[in-house]
Amino acid sequence: MWIAMKKRISHLDYIRTNTPGCHHRVHLNNAGAALMPKPVIDTIHDHLLLESQIGGYEAADAALEEIQRAYAAVADLIGCGHRNIAMVENATVATSQALSAFDFTRGDTIITTNVDYSSNQIMLLNLSERFGVRIIRAKDLPAGGVDPASVRRLIQKHRPKVMVMSWIPTNSGMVQDAASVGSICEEEGVPLLLDACQAVGQIPVDVKDIKCDFLAATSRKFLRGPRGMGFLYVSDRVLERGLSPLFPDTHGARWTGPDTFLLQEGAKRFENWEFPYALLLGMGRAAEYANQIGMEMISKRAHELGDYTRSKLDELPGVRMLDYGKQRCAIVSAAFEGIDAKVLVQKLRDRNINTSSASRTAGVIDMDAKHVDSVLRISPHYYNTRDEIDQVAEELRNLTT
Ligand SMILES: Cc1ncc(COP(=O)(O)O)c(C=O)c1O
Repeated sequence: MWIAMKKRISHLDYIRTNTPGCHHRVHLNNAGAALMPKPVIDTIHDHLLLESQIGGYEAADAALEEIQRAYAAVADLIGCGHRNIAMVENATVATSQALSAFDFTRGDTIITTNVDYSSNQIMLLNLSERFGVRIIRAKDLPAGGVDPASVRRLIQKHRPKVMVMSWIPTNSGMVQDAASVGSICEEEGVPLLLDACQAVGQIPVDVKDIKCDFLAATSRKFLRGPRGMGFLYVSDRVLERGLSPLFPDTHGARWTGPDTFLLQEGAKRFENWEFPYALLLGMGRAAEYANQIGMEMISKRAHELGDYTRSKLDELPGVRMLDYGKQRCAIVSAAFEGIDAKVLVQKLRDRNINTSSASRTAGVIDMDAKHVDSVLRISPHYYNTRDEIDQVAEELRNLTT
């Protein structure tokens, strides 16, 4: 029965029937927020209804088993145990909670990459301004993406407190070599904080292979969960070292005496007490849905559609394709000569097609190196079709010629 269900689920028609949003709109903004499938929508809706009928605290108690299932599904998705998962609001909070676990002092070093997410870069710059932490960015490979050999050299020279890296940036379809950097970090005994915000739900993730110590993710993007939820993976190594967030709350720790507190055993020490349980359950259901379909299949199809999009856009006049790096994914970025990408996004939206744009401040170093102020970002997922991509290419041809 399980095999039959898998076959049925992997069928594109079935997947699209299960995705109400794609019946009346071409949604190619999965790097922004993907369309939720029906089981996720129903899960959120049912829990909100239960809260309205019996009370929010009582509904959380009644849903205890489903909540455990949500942790298990997220853990399965990235190959760890539930004790390693902390549910948090979003990937930015996951990153800031993880960064706050380190006792930075003046002269400490953090190594990062040129394409790390803007919020992460700002957090690091603030650590530099307030605590005198040195932020050093590793060099890129000639083809683009961080050079693992540069990471190793910098680690050996500066002995950083932590390496911070975005696996897939927000403004281009490049996939950085997280596994090589993870291996180097492990060999050198430096924790790796990996921002996998655009990777989770798009490519298979196994934290044992990547060897990271923290992994930050969000629910609403390629994972197809609701907005307003995310998670943080915390390795056993970190938990055993006793690392904790700078400001644990009454859920992350227990107040045991006037001057004492006890941290939670597992990654829950990185959580806060208050939760939007409907969203937590929705994210768990989205992880279960992805696990059922299979991340290999999801990734293969999303990446094929990404390549197809690149090939269609490349045929248009005045377009510059901007996805560098050895490995590319389902995020496609392009600049159109003399046209602000924001304007194109709005015009496409008026024609029922969702895309997004990234401005210079989304990736100052990368965008300046490419000499662009804005890029159009088209991000298909496995539930999209070639027809939809043909449509966006055709509209872009009309709008730009
Ligand atoms: C690479 C990357 N990291 C982190 C984030 C932040 O995610 P969130 O808005 O869930 O905090 C984003 C959001 O676009 C992103 O693209």
